[in-house]
Amino acid sequence: MNSILITGGAGFIGSHLVQHFSNKYPDYKIINLDKLTYAGNLENLKDIQQSPNYHFVKGDIGDFDLVKELMEVHQINSIIHLAAESHVDRSISNPMEFVTTNVVGTVNLLNAAKACWNDNFEDKLFYFVSTDEVYGTLGETGLFTEETPYDPRSPYSASKASADHFVRAYHHTYNLPVKLSNCSNNYGAYQFPEKLLPLFINNIKHNKNLPVYGDGKYTRDWLWVVDHARAIDDVFHKGKMGETYNIGGFNEWQNIDLIHLLIEQMDEKLGRPKDTSKELITFVTDRPGHDKRYAIDANKIKTELGWEPSVTFEEGLNKTIDWYLENEAWMNNVTSGSYQSYYEQQYAKR
Ligand code: NAD
Ligand code: TYD
Repeated sequence: MNSILITGGAGFIGSHLVQHFSNKYPDYKIINLDKLTYAGNLENLKDIQQSPNYHFVKGDIGDFDLVKELMEVHQINSIIHLAAESHVDRSISNPMEFVTTNVVGTVNLLNAAKACWNDNFEDKLFYFVSTDEVYGTLGETGLFTEETPYDPRSPYSASKASADHFVRAYHHTYNLPVKLSNCSNNYGAYQFPEKLLPLFINNIKHNKNLPVYGDGKYTRDWLWVVDHARAIDDVFHKGKMGETYNIGGFNEWQNIDLIHLLIEQMDEKLGRPKDTSKELITFVTDRPGHDKRYAIDANKIKTELGWEPSVTFEEGLNKTIDWYLENEAWMNNVTSGSYQSYYEQQYAKR
């Protein structure tokens, strides 16, 4: 039987993953360890909170004794580690928090796993969920493959790259069984509205400015979060030990084109004349060190594990907009309180 510790399961991707595993594998035990920072929200998990195979623990991945106790009590044989500080802009304002959570927190989990499993690594797995941002930035052409040299350029990506290196170092030095995946930008329900898509969906709805960094000609590859959860499932069950899998949507967009598509879909849904919300576009001071282009070659996971995205971008975006429009209470809850001061601080200076 699998008894899995998922860290960061109350966040955006984590909550989709926890639901996916809890629903699809009723005989697995899922323990969700989450500190409930501003980005963690138990409302994301309300559909499964009563499930008999799911258990929530509020706590910090940096707390060695807690992690060790949880691993012993629940006889954890696998860890899927997602807990992190995840927003590039916040990493620029406060890098040390990213070092503490993303680097030190990850090494703490590795140490707890090593100590609890006591060098008996049969049927054990430490799976680290990482980002394509570790590879740096691309010019007009080319794709990130699993062999692309690391070149992180923001405090966020530097902290994730460092954690990736530690995970691999524990594999090579102590034989800890590990797997990693590096994914492109996710979008979907339950994403905190500091990231581009939920922020802009919310602002369009409320007729607020859309703060586009620089000239808007930055490129990202977008993947529906449900497809990321499916990919993690495939790597978890079928991926080779010690290996890394790049995950992406085969779906590159320049920010400004993506924003135009979003406006087109939203104006239609909100019953506004076509392109009305284009007036909200406001070009603001660029993000320092803004990476120009990310693009993932996801052919390894496609050919080796048979994974591919299940929806087109237009379908995924359509479902995502509908979810935010239908879940106004969720958005109101997360944007009350400290969100307002974050928003003012982040955008006033631009
Ligand atoms: P998120 O910010 O929405 O959620 C992070 C979760 O981690 C929150 O629930 C938070 O409470 C929890 N957390 C933070 N610090 C903690 C600590 N010290 N102890 C326990 N829990 C803690 O992030 P996300 O977008 O869901 O990303 C999840 C993971 O996937 C991250 O590791 C991120 O680097 C990676 N990733 C994200 C994307 C993306 O587009 N969002 C893409 C690729 C990889
Ligand atoms: P974001 O969602 O923060 O993800 P990441 O930086 O990890 O790729 O940003 C996606 C893109 O959108 C990125 O090029 C920065 C840009 N962006 C804006 O133009 N304005 C904004 O207010 C935000 C949050 C992002």
